[in-house]
Amino acid sequence: MLSGGDRVALVTSGGDAPGMNAALRAAARVGAQLGFEIVGVEDGYRGLLEGRVRPLDLRVLDEASRRGGTVLGTARSKIFPTAEGQARVRETIATQKLRAILVIGGNGSLTGAQKLADVALIAGVPASIDNDLACTSMAIGVDTAMNTIVEACDRICDTAAAHRRIFIVEVMGRDCGYLAMTAGVAAGADAVVVPEVGRSDGKIVDQVVRAIETAYSGDKRRVLVVKSEGVKLDSAQLKAQVDARISAKFPDVDSRVTVLGHVVRGGAPTAFDRLLGARLANAAMRALAEGQSGFMAGWLGPGLARKPCAHDPYVVLSPLDEVLAETARLHQGTSELAQWRRKIFEEIDPILER
Ligand code: F6P
Repeated sequence: MLSGGDRVALVTSGGDAPGMNAALRAAARVGAQLGFEIVGVEDGYRGLLEGRVRPLDLRVLDEASRRGGTVLGTARSKIFPTAEGQARVRETIATQKLRAILVIGGNGSLTGAQKLADVALIAGVPASIDNDLACTSMAIGVDTAMNTIVEACDRICDTAAAHRRIFIVEVMGRDCGYLAMTAGVAAGADAVVVPEVGRSDGKIVDQVVRAIETAYSGDKRRVLVVKSEGVKLDSAQLKAQVDARISAKFPDVDSRVTVLGHVVRGGAPTAFDRLLGARLANAAMRALAEGQSGFMAGWLGPGLARKPCAHDPYVVLSPLDEVLAETARLHQGTSELAQWRRKIFEEIDPILER
């Protein structure tokens, strides 16, 4: 259990996600209200290695919470997982008298957090636009990224329809097709190509060609294909192979590729992501105050196998080792969620092609 005046450190780590600042703001405000000294670690685990810990200004966080990125900075440290890195981080925790650490980040960041559970109380808050973490239905940043993709696709469809063109829009998500699929459905895509379905390159080309033939045999003036970056077939290759297949039938139709890249990761967080960050951070900070440790605060809602935490009916605290093991199964495609996603993704394809 934490006591008044204890130092609690906030860390943002891994790829930034819109809503991280809102989570920082909530954690700092709730922590201050509970009587703790809240400090921020600069640049993720790199800052923890180098002892870069500083006080947090609530007014600065209020402003930052409206913006993407993270006001603390973030990094993907290669030294942190090594024995030397672990020793240096432990030294910082001891010299800075950090009693608890709240890590806001994705899979790699939470794996790192778990390693420190023997020297401080540890809480994780899921943040990654990829939505590839288990034990939470949404991670911070997913909703904003989804909205950014939809907005980009809406703009692209305007010009695509004007020219009667085909657009292949590649989106981030690492090896997870969640972002591509959800944004694709919301944007009215004609085909969505995701890694989960496990199609060969030839079958992916077939899928896109079918969508084009259906669209241009009717009165459609554009074709939107949303492709996840996790699909191994390169977007330029996909375009070339599709062009070769359709050129005789549709000689006047051009295709273009747009890679949205890091555009998808920046920008002001949506109201949902701000609130998600705030609610997860609130629950995590209060659980730390009670002395709980080694958990991730996930967004799951009532009526699930694990009881919601006492502080929010939508927030479930799951042990970090369970989160990481289940996330590994999600990535391998063997977890219940992975199989569920694959089934739904397969069901959606023919519906979009109509
Ligand atoms: O994990 C978030 C993410 O944006 C992925 O979607 C993407 O593959 C990766 O990070 C990009 O990483 P970096 O910013 O290091 O290029």
